[in-house]
Amino acid sequence: VETTSPGETARARAESAGQGHLFAHWDQLDAAARERLVQEVDGVDFGLVAELVQLLSHEPSASNVGGGDELQPPELFPLQRDMADESRAEEARSTGGELLADGKVGYLLVAGGQASRLGYDGPKGDYAIGPVSGWTLFQYHARRLLAARQRYGAATPWYVMTSRANHDTTLRIFAENDFFGLPEEDVRFFTQAMVPAVDFDGRILMSGPGELFLAPNGHGGSIAAFADSGALADARARGLEHLSYFQVDNPLARPADPLFLGLHARAQAGMSSKVVSKRDPGEKVGVLGRVGGRMGCIEYSDLPESLRDARDADGQLSFRAGNIAIHALALDFVEALSSGGLQLPWHVAKKEMKVWGAGGPTTTPGAKFETFVFDALGKSESSVTLEVERAVEFSPVKNAEGDDSPATCQRDLCRLFSGWAEAAEREPPETTLEGVPAVEVDPLFAEDREAFLARAPTEPESRSGGHLYR
Ligand code: UD1
Repeated sequence: VETTSPGETARARAESAGQGHLFAHWDQLDAAARERLVQEVDGVDFGLVAELVQLLSHEPSASNVGGGDELQPPELFPLQRDMADESRAEEARSTGGELLADGKVGYLLVAGGQASRLGYDGPKGDYAIGPVSGWTLFQYHARRLLAARQRYGAATPWYVMTSRANHDTTLRIFAENDFFGLPEEDVRFFTQAMVPAVDFDGRILMSGPGELFLAPNGHGGSIAAFADSGALADARARGLEHLSYFQVDNPLARPADPLFLGLHARAQAGMSSKVVSKRDPGEKVGVLGRVGGRMGCIEYSDLPESLRDARDADGQLSFRAGNIAIHALALDFVEALSSGGLQLPWHVAKKEMKVWGAGGPTTTPGAKFETFVFDALGKSESSVTLEVERAVEFSPVKNAEGDDSPATCQRDLCRLFSGWAEAAEREPPETTLEGVPAVEVDPLFAEDREAFLARAPTEPESRSGGHLYR
């Protein structure tokens, strides 16, 4: 009886999909490398790859909000509130506070990205950002969640999405740090799927002689991965109703915000967003808007210049609702979205890629494919857009230098916290960071200005790097 080896089956599948070159180096691979290659090829959905390759020649409008012209600014729950807004806000805070106290909200952190722009060799969450404390992004997030736990007394789970490239390291970091003080059973990790990158002839690229060039499928992959990994079932079993979604790169993210969660829940929204006013037309944030009554987000790279620069009667940017990538998602919405497989549109990123060619390492123009979580906004019947204060809630770490870098983030943290210290008439430290007194406040010490003022008589820890209130 003739049997087919797994290698032959995988090769036959690849060949019939026109991807036989994946086995070009087979003869030079040892047994372990062959096994790994077969495993990778087994994981490839060649049907999907064929669909993605079609996008190379005619990518439909890059965002789900269609062509730019019909874009309308979103209706905001504004930062400047009149009395009616303020009383709505009060009600929402109390609803949100109840949801948090009743354990109806889970946190969802997306941390599967590759930190390539930052040039940091490791999970971005492990990057030390605390200007005085040296705490990492993961530590910052964990301390905020601990603070929320103390405030609301609920055993709220934290779902952390990794990707294959950083999963093991992320787990190790959490374990080595005793889950940053959170109960281990309330921190759950899940991994997003990977998709092959291709060249412009649609051939899957290789990153080694026996390795496919696979890239994370974008943070939109969090929806399907949340369901497929069993996290959704876990969330159901815990009785959760909403997820509070945030990105690893922003140490000021406030996942336990009763106002936001309350507004979202009261509007019976599927998915809601927080925005800040864009600081200038060129700022690299997506903008939220409405097309045909539906919310969407247009990525900065896709926003036509005429819309990017458009101003309204009072001189403000018309499309200034900058996406800070903080969302509330109803669990029912997540379930509906994930039950039919991933229903989000694919975006193509064409770039020069470091690959393994016929004769070894080389570079070639190619394409990666990603889905974006904010494309789900268009599928939500109702959606709240809450405007928040940039200084308090948004300073991401994206680039090694310049805008949105560790330097700007640390300066922003010091600016915010030294403002609180000044309001409490505290002596500033001698150390400054780009002219700003080096003051840092542990989220466990005080989450906001009000809380800080209430605790202000407490002395800070005086360190060589500045003052740390903890
Ligand atoms: C993103 C948003 C942008 C928003 C800005 C706010 C996109 C495409 N755009 O920009 O609208 O204004 O944040 O800071 O997201 N991630 C994964 N898996 C992936 C890809 C990314 O988990 O496959 C995570 C990263 O770890 C990171 C976050 O998603 O936490 C952001 O991804 P990134 O590609 O850096 O988005 P930006 O271009 O910075």
